[in-house]
Amino acid sequence: MLTTGDQQALLAWYDHHQRDLPWRRTSDPWSILLSEVLLQQTQVSRGLVYWRRMIETFPTVASMSQASVDAVLKAWEGAGYYSRARRLHALSQRVMLTEENDGFNGQLPETYAELLSLPGIGPYTAAAVASIAFEQPVACVDGNIRRVMARHTAQTEPAAKDVQVWADASLQIDRPGDWNQALMELGATVCTPRRVRCEACPLAPSCQGVAAPERYPAPKKLRKIDVELSVVVELALDGYPVLSQRPMSGMFAGLWGPQYAEGAIEHHPSTTFCGTLRHELSHRRFTVHVHRRTNVERSTGTSPDSVALSALDSKVLELATITTDESQ
Ligand code: ADE
Repeated sequence: MLTTGDQQALLAWYDHHQRDLPWRRTSDPWSILLSEVLLQQTQVSRGLVYWRRMIETFPTVASMSQASVDAVLKAWEGAGYYSRARRLHALSQRVMLTEENDGFNGQLPETYAELLSLPGIGPYTAAAVASIAFEQPVACVDGNIRRVMARHTAQTEPAAKDVQVWADASLQIDRPGDWNQALMELGATVCTPRRVRCEACPLAPSCQGVAAPERYPAPKKLRKIDVELSVVVELALDGYPVLSQRPMSGMFAGLWGPQYAEGAIEHHPSTTFCGTLRHELSHRRFTVHVHRRTNVERSTGTSPDSVALSALDSKVLELATITTDESQ
């Protein structure tokens, strides 16, 4: 665990070196919750873009609760992990319910346990929001904090339970929100996976991993699954693609797109092959063969700007519509 001296050194470092981020300039719990949900999946630089768009579109929990889930997906477009956007919408509706109906009368709850009871909120987000927005003394654990702990204690594969024990024991209880953010900030900017900057680290004097930081923690073996898909994008006579909304469960649930088929497909005289593209998600690597065909029976398609699309679908539609004047 970290000592009182380490705590003082890290907080002093954070006070000087923290990045100037908009959700750090506010105490509004909704703004902070949105930032933490987004930052679980994306780096701060990209997270900023999506956070701005989300907070402009839904400045309050009430405003999201009144919107359709489609509008939330549209604002979330490009951020990935779309189930998070759907759960955020469910969260907003639950918060707006009265207490008799298991809601929170329109106010985000303050305690770790109540936050954890909300849709889409796991232990990390509950601890982050409770500490940052409400100064509750609860320790967060995320990937950055795990790395700081692994290095500081020179462990290659610390168990999740041990990381939590370390974080709980190290928590500085007078400034828990700043404390959690300081540890995350250190992991994001100094105690990074590669090109570690131990010379700039306030915890270096007590760090057991300082001689060989990149040995800790050992990289996690992530095996991505390869998926081969084909798609025939149908273009209506107005030039727009024929799109449909996917079911509310499964991959890209609730988003719009063309229909995919597994594997490669035979060439058909009525279709034009547009190219093959690759796209990676956290656990899957897609290879997609893109074809298009004009559907003379459809006079109108769907404007891609009017519906929520995944990044994969956007790429597919772009490839399919780049040179539509070519003979079919
Ligand atoms: N990653 C996720 N939340 C963060 C925060 N509040 N500060 C720094 N990095 C983070």
